[in-house]
This record gives sequence, C-alpha cells and structure tokens, in this order.
Amino acid sequence: MVKVTYIDTKGVERTVDAEPGVSVMQAGLDNNIPQIESDCGGVCACAACHVYVEPQWLDRLTPMNKTENGLLGLLDVRKPNSRFSCQLKLTEALDGLTVHTLDPVAE
Ligand code: FES
Repeated sequence: MVKVTYIDTKGVERTVDAEPGVSVMQAGLDNNIPQIESDCGGVCACAACHVYVEPQWLDRLTPMNKTENGLLGLLDVRKPNSRFSCQLKLTEALDGLTVHTLDPVAE
C-alpha cells in the first residue's frame, strides 16, 4: 500500500492507504477526501482534480503530458507545482506523497 496525504485549504491533513496503480484522484474519491472531485472520470478534461504537489515529490511523478499542461494553462490558480491528480498514478516510490487540495469554488 502507498500512503498519500491530502491537506485541504483549512490545513486539515488526511492520510489514506491506496493500492499502487490507482491515481491520486481515485484514492481521494475512494476515501471521501474533501476537495477532490472528478467531473470527467479521470481523462484530464475537467480540471476538478487540481492539486498542488509538495515540491519534493515533483520529480518522482508521472511526467506531465501536453493535454495536462494545456488544461492547467487555462487556470488562473496554476502554480509551478500544479498537477491534475487523475494523472498521478501511485507507485511504491510515491509512498508518503503529500498534495494540497483546492476549494473548487475558488478555482
Ligand atoms: S478528473 Fe477531470 S481532469 Fe482530472
């Protein structure tokens, strides 16, 4: 199992155990993590699963493709550590991954 910690906009941390191979988005949905949403089912088309990744994890993530980069480019709230959590497949190397969720209303 892989531990993933989600920190919401109020600073509340929630850590879940997830199977390798699932996405950070799906692990969040499976565990009812607030502020993790999906309107497109995880095909990188809705931006609802946007998270900020703790910087030390960035180089261990699935590389960003053009579709994700393009959609992120449309968001005013994009930061250098922005990713769509549906595009982040969990592996054993990501055990301990920490992401910050966003208030969907504020996006
Ligand atoms: S779930 Fe739609 S972009 Fe990630």
